[in-house]
Amino acid sequence: MLTNEQINNIRSSVNIVDIVSSYIPLTKKGKNYFGVCPFHPDSDPSFCVSEQKQIYTCFSCKATGNVLHFIMNYENINFMDAVKIIADKANIDINIGDTSRYLPDKNKKLFEIYDVASKFYQNNINTINGIKARDYLHDRGFDDNIIKEFMIGLSLPNHDLLTKILINNKNSYEDMIKSGLVVKNNYGYSDIYNNRIMFPIWDITGKVVGFSGRIFNGEDTNKYAKYINTKETPIFKKGELLYNYHRAKNACRQKNFTVIVEGQLDLIRAYSIGLSNIVATMGTAFTKEHAMLVKRLAKDVVICFDGDSAGEKATLACGNELENLGITPKIVRLEESLDPDEYIRKFGKDRFLEKIDNPISFMDFKLSFYKNNKNLNDNNDIAKYVNTIIDELSRIDDDVLKELTLKKLSLESRLDIDFLRNSLNNKKVLVKRDVKIVTQQIKENKYELATKYLIYYMLKDKKAIKIYNSSKVFIPNEKYRLLAKEISCFYLNNGFIKVADLMNSFVNDDDIIKLIGEIEKLDLRDDYDVNKINDCINVLKQYTVNYETKNLDQKLHNTDSYDEKIALAQRLLDLKKEQSKVMEEK
Ligand code: UTP
Ligand code: MN
Repeated sequence: MLTNEQINNIRSSVNIVDIVSSYIPLTKKGKNYFGVCPFHPDSDPSFCVSEQKQIYTCFSCKATGNVLHFIMNYENINFMDAVKIIADKANIDINIGDTSRYLPDKNKKLFEIYDVASKFYQNNINTINGIKARDYLHDRGFDDNIIKEFMIGLSLPNHDLLTKILINNKNSYEDMIKSGLVVKNNYGYSDIYNNRIMFPIWDITGKVVGFSGRIFNGEDTNKYAKYINTKETPIFKKGELLYNYHRAKNACRQKNFTVIVEGQLDLIRAYSIGLSNIVATMGTAFTKEHAMLVKRLAKDVVICFDGDSAGEKATLACGNELENLGITPKIVRLEESLDPDEYIRKFGKDRFLEKIDNPISFMDFKLSFYKNNKNLNDNNDIAKYVNTIIDELSRIDDDVLKELTLKKLSLESRLDIDFLRNSLNNKKVLVKRDVKIVTQQIKENKYELATKYLIYYMLKDKKAIKIYNSSKVFIPNEKYRLLAKEISCFYLNNGFIKVADLMNSFVNDDDIIKLIGEIEKLDLRDDYDVNKINDCINVLKQYTVNYETKNLDQKLHNTDSYDEKIALAQRLLDLKKEQSKVMEEK
């Protein structure tokens, strides 16, 4: 285990600007660096990195932290792993081994259950019981190397083999049920999966968190679901993870583009012919969280969904979700309604890879999508089509693309290009408005404001820390109170305050980190004096006194004991005196 001091040393051995700019492009403006925030959907540069303070803050989503928080949140790893990465970059040998042991993880049991289950299933497919399953996979063209690499396994036809193994591993029934791999029925407990080929699903760090189990024995797909996915659990949220993300991460960043397909079988096929920068959704809708994950991988995205009309609709939805985050995807459509797996088997890998290398633009895809089922010799259909495309064009900024599309549209609709251009320009005035996000001004009460200012001074000046400690004022807001306490402790231990290091005390408390970010943004005048600090203290004293007065009044009202009444009345009198003193000081 590392000491706070060691962690702080590692933190300060790198420059946050260098590290962050190795993940996202930054531009210098004044003292600070700006980029597009990777932690919320956006295309504006609202993400600010301060070299001087060694912290980052997003003006929009309020994400804040030092370089360790950045790595932790960007890579979705725990704090100690982030420390390890930074130590690595700074060439500091810390030798803390497997850091996951240091994380008190409330989901530890679930991860362990999935680890046991995936090893068990994998083992089954290698035994004599697994011959049929392996034959099935071989027939579909997946060799033993791929089976091994994707950790493909098999659940056996018996009903409680996994349950027994989990019991032998000393898991509670509660955890087993929570994992979604075991179910309670009239006879006891039994496995969810029977006689299916088991594809493990990994989270973005590569831990197994779920399964997709496919039937393979010629069972009727009308009677049984072709795939059964594990139910949603605290560690398995289909809308928040992409199949193969952890394996594809580096390849996507290297090649600077990411391919998205619809199913794990399609992915494994494409991967096996050398397409390693690829992730898959799992037959569910493509969510904003998916889009944010994809955005982290690479600048360009190619969507290659199934060739059928469901795949076409999903392509449009996925593309729109990506565009909301400022990514314009490119599109590959496969002929004959084939999915990537079928396409590769029918036409060969070269033709597939060539298609991936020559995608069409999202706008061209939309042109063809909205032409579906329309007769461009029919005026009603033409009008619908033209209006839809003009609508689409009004939402993009690329003038060249607009002009090119207008030309195509003019040819297809036989409408004059000037007329189309005019309609587009008229439209623009109407829609442009909802683009700007209005930041809400939250009204703060005077106590909150005084607290914020006080903490601002405490972060700048040890005088403020001393004044706060000796004043004994009560900070109404719990989070601010905790923060003030931590600042005092940090100062006591180190004799100085460094915001970036202070943040290491709040690894698991995002709210407080955000508060620090907000306070740091206040940027009050430098030429303050002790009076300013005392002003804040006095406002908080008012609160403290009022609060206590109310309390005492209540007690006085409720008690029947004569002695207690006298004692309370005396306390109240003292408070009143204190109160008038506070007023005088003002
Ligand atoms: P598909 O039906 O396109 O399957 O579902 P596929 O990928 O072509 O698989 P094969 O070739 O038939 O083996 C795409 C994805 O949708 C999810 C799965 O994640 C699958 O990979 N799905 C499909 C389910 O969850 N349940 C189902 O019953 C079917
Ligand atoms: Mn298929």
